[in-house]
Amino acid sequence: MSVWASWGLPADEVHVWYVPLDAIPHPAARAAYIGILDSVERARHQSFVFERNKHEYLVAHGLVRTTLSHYTGAAPGDWEFETSAQGRPEVRAPALDPPLRFSLSHTEGLVAAAFTLARSVGVDVECVQRRETPARVAEHSFSPAEVHSLRTLPPSEQRRRFFEIWTLKEAYIKARGMGLSLPLDKFSFDLDGSRIRISIDPLLEDDPEDWQFFLNKPTPVHQLALAVRRGDTGESKVRLASALL
Ligand SMILES: CC(C)(COP(=O)(O)OP(=O)(O)OC[C@H]1O[C@@H](n2cnc3c(N)ncnc32)[C@H](O)[C@@H]1OP(=O)(O)O)[C@@H](O)C(=O)NCCC(=O)NCCS
Repeated sequence: MSVWASWGLPADEVHVWYVPLDAIPHPAARAAYIGILDSVERARHQSFVFERNKHEYLVAHGLVRTTLSHYTGAAPGDWEFETSAQGRPEVRAPALDPPLRFSLSHTEGLVAAAFTLARSVGVDVECVQRRETPARVAEHSFSPAEVHSLRTLPPSEQRRRFFEIWTLKEAYIKARGMGLSLPLDKFSFDLDGSRIRISIDPLLEDDPEDWQFFLNKPTPVHQLALAVRRGDTGESKVRLASALL
């Protein structure tokens, strides 16, 4: 099976689709998506205690399945996934050549999913109204250089920068597929220049020049970050859109 031309995904593009959760009523999401989940997804959906977590999970997994189907023509309920030892989901079937890869993120009020052909990709979204205290989380999870750069900013800018770095770090570990087995303080983002740069401790065996990063605020209260590994054709074009358009 190959990727359709009509909803084409060129090899040098990354598509990021997002859904503000308050734009989909709960009954509409249930009607659209519950029937296309597999038994594992249905069990996880059922396991959430709070209705808003159920809704978030349902829309997230519905978005992945229906978008994969738009690109390929396969039925949304036919997708089978496998999960790596560190938790990264990938398409197992139907077999695709080249492989269609995705990354998923959900947070209070927003879901986003990124799609590429063959390249490693990671997306992260966070609600910037979360209660975490930036200084405390940064000291626990950021590199010394990131903590220092945060402290040098005026207090009015620190919260914005904190969420930019947080989502970039999450996007990178998701693109590498390694989850929290990748130590968060062993790589560092520098946002002071004209482009987003990463430095990586040699322990992590990765080349900073292989990576491209992107930041966006899809809603006034959500920060999104994307990490994508450069391919043979170099930079990817990033296209971001609401899946409800
Ligand atoms: C699981 C983790 C990959 C992302 O968690 P998260 O940011 O809380 O949650 P998100 O909604 O953004 O991402 C969850 C999705 O990532 C995907 N995912 C899970 N493990 C993954 C991995 N190893 N690699 C890539 N993607 C992964 C799954 O699709 C998952 O969705 P699902 O559970 O509905 O199937 C991991 O990085 C984590 O636990 N992060 C929290 C660490 C933290 O405290 N960071 C502080 C600031 S840097």
